[in-house]
Amino acid sequence: MKGTFPIEKFKTVATPFYYYDTELLRTTLNRIKEATKNDDHFHVHYAIKANANKKVLRIISAMGFGADCVSGGEIKAAIEAGFAPEKIVYAGVGKSDWEINLGLEVGIDYFNVESIAELEVINELAAQKGLTARVSFRINPNVGAHTHANITTGLAENKFGIAMEDMEKVIETAASLNHVEFIGLHFHIGSQILEMGDFVALCNRINELQEQLERHHIKVQNINVGGGLGIDYQHPNEVPVPDFEAYFQTYRKHLSLRPGQQLHFELGRAVVGQCGSLITRILYVKQATYKQFAIVDAGMTDLIRPALYQAFHCIENLSSENKKETYDVVGPICESSDVFVKAYDLNKCHRGDLLAIRSAGAYGEIMASQYNCRELPTGYTSEDFI
Ligand code: LLP
Repeated sequence: MKGTFPIEKFKTVATPFYYYDTELLRTTLNRIKEATKNDDHFHVHYAIKANANKKVLRIISAMGFGADCVSGGEIKAAIEAGFAPEKIVYAGVGKSDWEINLGLEVGIDYFNVESIAELEVINELAAQKGLTARVSFRINPNVGAHTHANITTGLAENKFGIAMEDMEKVIETAASLNHVEFIGLHFHIGSQILEMGDFVALCNRINELQEQLERHHIKVQNINVGGGLGIDYQHPNEVPVPDFEAYFQTYRKHLSLRPGQQLHFELGRAVVGQCGSLITRILYVKQATYKQFAIVDAGMTDLIRPALYQAFHCIENLSSENKKETYDVVGPICESSDVFVKAYDLNKCHRGDLLAIRSAGAYGEIMASQYNCRELPTGYTSEDFI
């Protein structure tokens, strides 16, 4: 099965560029709404870090979602794109003073705090403004996720969050400070998770923590379980929308919420991953001793996931219907790791053919760099080609 692209219109556009299918993005967002329509206490915050393309952000904000930010820059991007400040949450192990001040000034919902040192700074900065900052503590639940080692975050060895054994101490510290209000707990165990069992393990851990806190008469208004739901990189056309039903049902079934408690999610990849493709042109087909290379004009500077995480992305030759041959698809960057895929079957490649590197909507455009003095790729949506 192949994807559908306005290939005639692509022919005149400079490559490489990102292409976002806004119909698929809207379908995905609607499926999230549909899957949570009977749960008023479920709130989905889109994780801006996955893709901050302005047009993409506008579509997501217009449908009423909140935003999960990890920097002052992301808070600015969220506000510019129309996300309501009271639906913005802000996490990160190293928040600078200006970023905390920005969060206070725009009136975000709460800060996800990752250390006592940070809590004290937020208290001090809020005091200077005569405000009280709502804070939630990011707890490291020490739950492993079945995903790439570079994208697990919830293990004791990771830099993220507050260790479980320190949790009560931190909550007590918050109670002693006048300009912070403790409102909740925050978790995130990793990304590209496809086994619901990993989320069940997180739910079990949160249930234990809640019981422990209740023994100390500590009440929690909000539980934020982070993001992490993966997408099917192998089958972008067959499985364009992740199984949100199964995902939310896992939390409904396994997490024991107390009356009135709100449950927040921070989904990134699952929202935008499948709607984006990196479109690139073949510069040369090079026959080497043992293999042939399709050398394209996009590189690891445009999409770093294969080089950084050995991530797989399907590739389609949009210009050729000829019989498949086997290629290593590589970019022009002066690095041996600038390889999109090795020994991959593609319709016979020719100079000038357009390729679509699929499932690149999340952590693609946003992670692009200018290494080798390259231009950043432009991001177009399907609406730009009507
Ligand atoms: N919340 C927190 C606290 C996070 O750290 C992340 C992702 C998310 C939510 C969103 O996770 P998602 O739903 O997208 O899995 N660049 C890597 C992924 C890094 C994810 C970092 N944190 C990649 O390309 O696979």
